[in-house]
Amino acid sequence: MSFVSNGRHGNVGFFCLIHFESVHYNTEPTFIRIFKLKPKFMNQINRRNWLRSAGLSSGMLFLGGIDSIASNATKITIDNEGPILLNANENPYSPSDRMQQLITNNFDLTCRYPFRILSDLVVDIAEKEGVSKDHIVITGGSTEGLHAAGLIYGMHGGEIIAADPTFQSLLKYAENHGAKIHRVPLNESLEHDLEAMAAKINKRTSLIFICNPNNPTGTIVNASALKDFCKSHDQQAVIFSDEAYYDFITEADYPSMTDLVKQGRNVIVSKTFSKVYGLAGLRVGYLIAKPEIASKLKASVMANTNVFAIKAAQEALKDDEFYKFSIAKNMEAKKMIYKTLDDLGLKYIPSHSNFVFFESGRPVSELNSSMRAENIIIGRPFPPFNHWARISTGTTDDMQQFDIALKKVML
Ligand SMILES: Cc1ncc(COP(=O)(O)O)c(C=O)c1O
Repeated sequence: MSFVSNGRHGNVGFFCLIHFESVHYNTEPTFIRIFKLKPKFMNQINRRNWLRSAGLSSGMLFLGGIDSIASNATKITIDNEGPILLNANENPYSPSDRMQQLITNNFDLTCRYPFRILSDLVVDIAEKEGVSKDHIVITGGSTEGLHAAGLIYGMHGGEIIAADPTFQSLLKYAENHGAKIHRVPLNESLEHDLEAMAAKINKRTSLIFICNPNNPTGTIVNASALKDFCKSHDQQAVIFSDEAYYDFITEADYPSMTDLVKQGRNVIVSKTFSKVYGLAGLRVGYLIAKPEIASKLKASVMANTNVFAIKAAQEALKDDEFYKFSIAKNMEAKKMIYKTLDDLGLKYIPSHSNFVFFESGRPVSELNSSMRAENIIIGRPFPPFNHWARISTGTTDDMQQFDIALKKVML
């Protein structure tokens, strides 16, 4: 198995030529089948396989132990003209060969609606989460689940409480549909201030949004404090626990709020295949809630997901190798970011996610422009933290480029 980075810096053309023949041979059955259907698609797949088989990456020089997680250890950086993307908290690595093969093998499903195979994924997720099928709502990325909840609980004058800054998707969608949002500043450690949030609850409060780990700070809420908070307030409002980055949490045995869903609490949990599983472009995520809530959410889902995403998500749940690889590479990249920031004496918050929030000490809009000039895109401003910046983890190469660029623009 091999994983392909979406980076931009490898110079692999020469090696691609050398390896083309063997790859073409190895993938022939799929190659021929796709060629008959879609010549353009075939070209893309072929290009990726050339690169993958080349077995050359500057990242490889650094990976050592982590690379050994992958059985054939061929991490390749695709030569791409675009900027380095450290702005959207994506996984910079595409999933395994096995996953890509699976998607092409299921190409014929394109003419079918996804409903028939969706139930298979529901079964797999329910098993993973330890709940029954009627607790699961599959969505087009977790964003669709956030929107559905924002709509249901935000309409008809519903009021929502959330930290500030936090992930805006649910809040903005709810606001667009008439909700009033109470934004409660983070505390001094830039963590959720649960006490201040509780103080905002009133008769019209319909939902309390907790992004955990929080985007953009990468902080987590103390586990027992969060459980107590949910238990104390879930009769006053539904608690929404956005766990998009749950897999990256570094604290041992940190609980998912799914535990409370299992106890019949008024809690909704959202999870996604976009981050640790590297499937952001396919759009698949899910909600976990007790059946009465889940059925309301299901009725508000608009886009659903698609056949490739469903097949890929099923495969992702089995692909322990890629899962471990993603976690390990993310940790490696975060350590590289910490080192850069330590070298520069810049303050940052140790992160439980795949991004780091740091105090740049200068207007983030200015820093963004300077970094853009170095071909690196970093996170948008998160007011009121206008002198802080959010940097997503990238490939090993990306992190080296970030180190050089940030030192150049900051010194
Ligand atoms: C906290 C959080 N939740 C949810 C999402 C949405 O991800 P997706 O719709 O790809 O599942 C993101 C995206 O960055 C996020 O940061």
